Amino acid sequence: MEPRRSGGAVPRGPARSSDAVYAGVTVVLLFAVWCAQALEVSVGKVPHIEAMNGSTVLLPCTYSSCFGIKNLYFSWSYNDNGTMVKLCQAVIPAEGVDPNVKLYHDRVGFVGKGHNISILLYNITFEDDGEYICFARNPKEKNRNHSAIYRLYVVDELKVVDKTLTTIIMSVVGGLIGLIVFVMILKALILFALRKMREKNKECLVSSSGNDNTENGLTGSKADNKATPKA
Ligand SMILES: *[C@@H]1O[C@H](CO)[C@@H](O)[C@H](O)[C@H]1NC(C)=O
Ligand SMILES: *[C@@H]1O[C@H](CO)[C@@H](O)[C@H](O)[C@H]1NC(C)=O
Ligand SMILES: *[C@@H]1O[C@H](CO)[C@@H](O)[C@H](O)[C@H]1NC(C)=O
Ligand SMILES: *[C@@H]1O[C@H](CO)[C@@H](O)[C@H](O)[C@H]1NC(C)=O
Ligand SMILES: *[C@@H]1O[C@H](CO)[C@@H](O)[C@H](O)[C@H]1NC(C)=O
Repeated sequence: MEPRRSGGAVPRGPARSSDAVYAGVTVVLLFAVWCAQALEVSVGKVPHIEAMNGSTVLLPCTYSSCFGIKNLYFSWSYNDNGTMVKLCQAVIPAEGVDPNVKLYHDRVGFVGKGHNISILLYNITFEDDGEYICFARNPKEKNRNHSAIYRLYVVDELKVVDKTLTTIIMSVVGGLIGLIVFVMILKALILFALRKMREKNKECLVSSSGNDNTENGLTGSKADNKATPKA
């Protein structure tokens, strides 16, 4: 402690150099803090996806590093109820060099390029539902482990909520159409019945002739006017 105090007293004289040292130390510290996140692994802003069984999904993952990389190791694993099942792994020798990816799963394909280390999972089944871990380790930073989790939900049909809503709308619309049709049929039947009754009345009261028919037509239209408010 003692030597540090005296050391601190020395730069008081040459103020400019002490400022420079202070600034330099700050920059180094800032850089160190920034580079504590030297390697970053990300599965994107939305770390989950909902997909239908039988479809093919992209499991996205990217890495970034402020140091640059050398022999970066990465892998994808599936969290099978606590047991990590490795799907693939590879070492990226240097920035921009395509890795030789070892696949341990029939339905996995590597589609990454550069900082993109995404994989495809083909023809998914309900057993594929769960957490997928994108893991990376950069030997340049003392083998610190970095990982990100992507959640896959395998569903039977997409948007169940939308489907029920559609069903509701369709049944309401269908019901309305049915009601309208029913009312129209009822009206037609009533009108038909009224006309039949009127014809019977005509037969009873009036003998049929050309002139009479026109008169009947007029009385008929009056009857119609009376009938419609009833219906
Ligand atoms: C998804 O699963 C359902 C229910 O098991 C099945 O009926 C359907 O055929 C499956 N779809 C595909 C594309 O595999
Ligand atoms: C997952 O593990 C827990 C305990 O470790 C066990 O109780 C549970 O049954 C397991 N579930 C499945 C689906 O294997
Ligand atoms: C996915 O399913 C299709 C059709 O069933 C098949 O042709 C294809 O080979 C499958 N892909 C994988 C990677 O299993
Ligand atoms: C990674 O690559 C895949 C396949 O080429 C692409 O679909 C995906 O959008 C890429 N992701 C990013 C973050 O660039
Ligand atoms: C990183 O993960 C490996 C297993 O993949 C483990 O053996 C190692 O101890 C971890 N390192 C650190 C620094 O956590």
